[in-house]
Amino acid sequence: MKKKIGVLTSGGDCPGLNAVLRAVARTADHYGMEVIGFREGFEGLLPPGDFLKLDRNATAGIMHLGGTILGTTNKGHFVAKVGAGDKATIPQEIINKARQTFNELGLHAVIVIGGDGSLSTGLQLSENGMPVVGVPKTIDNDLEATAITFGFDSAVACVVDAMDRLHTTATSHRRVMVLEVMGRHAGWIALYGGMAGGADVILIPEIPFSLEKIAQEVRQRDRFGAKSTMMVIAEGASSREGRQHRHSVASGEYRFGGVGEMVGREIADRTGKDTRVCVLGHLQRGGTPTAVDRILGTRFGIHAVELINQGKFGMMVSYMGNHITEVPITDAVNKLRRVAPDCQMVQDARTAEISFGD
Ligand code: F6P
Repeated sequence: MKKKIGVLTSGGDCPGLNAVLRAVARTADHYGMEVIGFREGFEGLLPPGDFLKLDRNATAGIMHLGGTILGTTNKGHFVAKVGAGDKATIPQEIINKARQTFNELGLHAVIVIGGDGSLSTGLQLSENGMPVVGVPKTIDNDLEATAITFGFDSAVACVVDAMDRLHTTATSHRRVMVLEVMGRHAGWIALYGGMAGGADVILIPEIPFSLEKIAQEVRQRDRFGAKSTMMVIAEGASSREGRQHRHSVASGEYRFGGVGEMVGREIADRTGKDTRVCVLGHLQRGGTPTAVDRILGTRFGIHAVELINQGKFGMMVSYMGNHITEVPITDAVNKLRRVAPDCQMVQDARTAEISFGD
């Protein structure tokens, strides 16, 4: 009898999820396994199970599609994280229900494609007797134990495209332009998107900024005859004396946003410069994955099925030192990979006269 495996996408979506699903279906076929895909993340594991067959036909032609054909959620019965550092334990009754579906469907293992919170849930399932293999996913690129997650490159490409567009209009009008991007706790998107997009100022959660320092930078650029000042700010960035711009929502999570508007207003007041603010929001999460994310997603999907084939469970596929490998899921969860304020990339940026507002 063919081995049957399950796969699910959980948490916030990102470009590249469908590339993983397609690779899982093809690799499973290669090893003579069957795949079912659970709908809406872990919710699909609740009895009697909400799933569809994922074979080569069902996954044909989806590589270039953003989102996930399985659907996903960052709410529901299986939320293991409610905020940075917070940890919630999934009630035993819910875990038992998932195990019931797992057993009734005769599954051999489940591939969990998700970020920190979803992989924490996967770990709990694994500790309760369900063989799990993790695939790291987040546009924020803040997951430990992997050098990169798919979705990040596509999000950065979106930031760069926005910067290119904003740059021309900012220059025509001699304006200051502030672009707010995603990144609640880590500034990777702002740092990469800012550097590639030619930002003059990059503000990230890891380096608290001073509004007066930013204003000085703008005044100085004005004196040198700069036609525009381009700023990228991560949604989780905050001033030295200030707080993060976020509000709690019903699920207990925080929703971020508003820091760009605050910085834009303050800089306009302090410098008298015409300033405009653009919030990129979920544009960064949607659309076609870049070639990098398609390849990374595909290789992660292949390796996940190979781990199942080798009977290696409780592991997450990872990209390290230029190749795909695997690490225990425990190495990846409960800590975030943030930008080190003294890392080489930040130092390089400073040498190239990019200000971090500090
Ligand atoms: O974790 C990825 C992320 O894109 C964050 O950067 C952002 O704050 C958050 O998800 C938004 O998630 P949602 O709007 O889906 O709740």
